[in-house]
Amino acid sequence: MEIKKIKKNIFIIGGSLRKKSYNKFLASNLVEIGKNDFNFEIFSDFNLLPMYNTDDHSENDWPSALLEIGDKIKNADGVIFITPEYNFSVPGYLKNCIDWISRLPNQPLDKKPVCIQSASLGPLGGARVQYHLRQILVFLNARVMNKNEIFVTFAKTKFDETGKLIDEQTINFIKDQLNGFKIFINE
Ligand code: FNR
Repeated sequence: MEIKKIKKNIFIIGGSLRKKSYNKFLASNLVEIGKNDFNFEIFSDFNLLPMYNTDDHSENDWPSALLEIGDKIKNADGVIFITPEYNFSVPGYLKNCIDWISRLPNQPLDKKPVCIQSASLGPLGGARVQYHLRQILVFLNARVMNKNEIFVTFAKTKFDETGKLIDEQTINFIKDQLNGFKIFINE
């Protein structure tokens, strides 16, 4: 008898606005690395959300992209944020996206299992943005996994020109994080 594996559904909010974003590359490599255990969907089109302004919406009137993001989060078993660090913190477009999400009825990140990855050109790989992002997620009552953390340092050296992750150690770190996340989701 063949036992069918039930895959967890993961919604990735990740990348930056630019086409050749290392964080976008990281997201697409994650999909490949975790494909046996997870179904992934990636959101990186942050331009679909205008700058948040309370005057621009009512309780029943939200940008359609936001409603879609909210539904994807609600229906996912977990969410993975993959982000660059801008000036030691969360890039404006990602903060804007989270601010929108936070206003939705039945706020979708509440109690949602979350883990975080970041890639940067520098030697810390976005260590500081991760702690600012965690602080934001505390207010939203997301259930953020502590370990393992993924900081892709010196990103230029870790991907080839097609965006494929070529650093074995980083690939193994990501496998470990995904294994941990699988357990964390069920806890
Ligand atoms: C950066 N970068 C950067 N890197 C870092 O490690 N710490 C930082 O605080 C910053 N700050 C910062 C601010 C702004 C406005 C930009 C545009 C860039 C460099 C950053 O790591 C690099 O541009 C990455 O390539 C950005 O990620 P993506 O776009 O490749 O995903």
